[in-house]
Amino acid sequence: MKIAFVEPGRPRSGTIVVGVLEDRKLTPTAAALDKETGGALKRAIAASRFTGRKDDMLGVLAPPHLAVGRVLLVGLGKAVSLDEAAMQTLGGAIVGQLNSVGESEAAVALDRLDGMKPKPADAAANLAFGARLRAYRFDKYRTKEKPEQKPTLRSLAVMTRDAAAARRAFAPLEEVAKGVFFTRDLVSEPANIIYPETLAAAARQLTRVGVQVEVLDERQMKRLGMGALLGVGQGSAKPPRLVVMQWKGGAKGRAAQPVAFIGKGVTFDTGGISIKPADGMWDMKWDMGGAGVVIGLMRALAGRKAKVNAVGVIGLVENMPSGMAQRPGDIVTSMSGQTIEVLNTDAEGRLVLADALWYCQDRFKPKFMVDLATLTGAIIIALGSEHAGLFSNNDELASRLAAAGAAVGEKLWRLPLADAYDRMMDSDAADIKNISGGRDASSITAAQFLQRFVNNVPWAHLDIAGTTWSKKDAATVPKGATAFGVRLLDRLVAEHYER
Ligand code: BES
Ligand code: MN
Ligand code: ZN
Repeated sequence: MKIAFVEPGRPRSGTIVVGVLEDRKLTPTAAALDKETGGALKRAIAASRFTGRKDDMLGVLAPPHLAVGRVLLVGLGKAVSLDEAAMQTLGGAIVGQLNSVGESEAAVALDRLDGMKPKPADAAANLAFGARLRAYRFDKYRTKEKPEQKPTLRSLAVMTRDAAAARRAFAPLEEVAKGVFFTRDLVSEPANIIYPETLAAAARQLTRVGVQVEVLDERQMKRLGMGALLGVGQGSAKPPRLVVMQWKGGAKGRAAQPVAFIGKGVTFDTGGISIKPADGMWDMKWDMGGAGVVIGLMRALAGRKAKVNAVGVIGLVENMPSGMAQRPGDIVTSMSGQTIEVLNTDAEGRLVLADALWYCQDRFKPKFMVDLATLTGAIIIALGSEHAGLFSNNDELASRLAAAGAAVGEKLWRLPLADAYDRMMDSDAADIKNISGGRDASSITAAQFLQRFVNNVPWAHLDIAGTTWSKKDAATVPKGATAFGVRLLDRLVAEHYER
């Protein structure tokens, strides 16, 4: 879909999209169009349930005296409620609507409204950003789809008085969208296509946008003592990888301390010898969602040339049962030196992260670490897909993350960490075990496990098992891979960590 910013005018084909405020109050352009059509818009509104509330939409076909095929009235609610996130939602909803009616081109008229928060250029840019995010589709394997089954919308023009300023405001957002799409693509791919080596190769592509990328192989990880990560990978024919990405857009020298993001990259999780049931196992192709987000985030930061030093570390393994696989009861030694009793081979994400987290803090001494992982089914029981779980040893980092999430619509809910939960992971045979042995608080005990490998660095863990994949379309997130976390962490960096 092509997006353009143009000066206000009357398009001669397709759809013109105009806003209506709460209580059927027409915006200036809507009022002008109503006049030009001899009152057709007001009559259409009167004959419908449309009142101008947010999410209300009404299409008016073949309006008299206009060249366009349709006027789409969109409810704006109250002007004061229109912040950047609301503009994104609006842009996404417009794209969803236009595709559902088979439209191929449209122009959105954005009026300056009293009380509206963003500047006109930012409002236009954010509407376009939301439109862009919604227009994503992963359809490379649908070879028999007919053209009429595909989304129809080919071009969207956003009409605004300062088109040049809108274009400038859109440029960094478009880079974030590219990061989001990179993540969605990687997470959508099946596990016969994306496995540790190919996911590492995808991360390597970021060198093109200026990210330094290193890929550690099995031998190098062995030398570093990453027995926890390697134990998970040993049952697979696909060798594991650890990828380190660095974006150096920030200060040099002593002030260069980076921020760090760590991702769980289990490219397929069968559960290993503690094998999962067949039903739904296909979902475990997206058990590399955390790693996918870290890659897309690095793409976004580099693309918009963020003034920050950022490190991304992703641990990539495939968790398979085989004659080589690790067994329940095996004891492995992690890079930290701590020994781990592996009682359940399906609690593998924490084993991968244990070594990735330790390696990250040991090598980079980061300001903070945020890890992302599709870690526990229990977080879906607790929070569904509305919020991701947030766990942290640092209140400032936790509140910054929660605020960034609220601002971009990727919401987080904090859960507690405490010594009593930590003790549930003590093992009789080793320093720690990888499951508590009961179902109680199992998202929390998973986080407690991770905390033993962060060496007191400010750290937060995002359990994204419930938010990485979506079963229904949302305004800016079509169903499928969501890339939940890319926009959130990009925002966190932009708000607090750029020089
Ligand atoms: N990848 C799963 C968690 C998961 C489940 C993600 C459903 C997305 C959807 C993880 O590796 C896992 O298997 N966790 C176990 C832990 C248990 C063995 C302690 C779980 O949640 O059941
Ligand atoms: Mn598992
Ligand atoms: Zn897993």
